[in-house]
Amino acid sequence: MINEDIIDAMVRMAKDAMQKAHAPYSGRKVGACVLASDGTLYGGCNVENASYGLTCCAERVAIFKAIADSKREFDAIAVVADTDEPCVPCGACCQVMAEFKIRDVIMANTKGDIEVADLMDLAPCATGKARNFQEA
Ligand code: THU
Repeated sequence: MINEDIIDAMVRMAKDAMQKAHAPYSGRKVGACVLASDGTLYGGCNVENASYGLTCCAERVAIFKAIADSKREFDAIAVVADTDEPCVPCGACCQVMAEFKIRDVIMANTKGDIEVADLMDLAPCATGKARNFQEA
């Protein structure tokens, strides 16, 4: 399990990324931060589109940034939004987390509530490296 200082740093970066969201349709700004196993943090925000289905969530933007920077191993991801309860990732993002075996999921809101969950509890049916389906 990741330590408190790293959780705080990840939530802070996720909050910064949240400010950059492009969310004119839902009005819901979301930020994320993924921790690569070499210690590098990558922030991401949700990017919406006039064709709503093309929207990409903050978590996937953060993961894809890290992947495009050649990272393949990860320890954790954080997501934050201005919600009553800590923000829970959608099924599509959980599936992408499973692909890259990101098991520790930190869910937060801007009020300072933080919950940490195992991806396998959030999305027990997700398949990918986290499940032994794909070892590559
Ligand atoms: N959203 C995220 O970016 N991550 C989540 O975990 C929940 C949902 C975005 C998608 C859309 O732009 C907006 O929040 C409203 O659903």
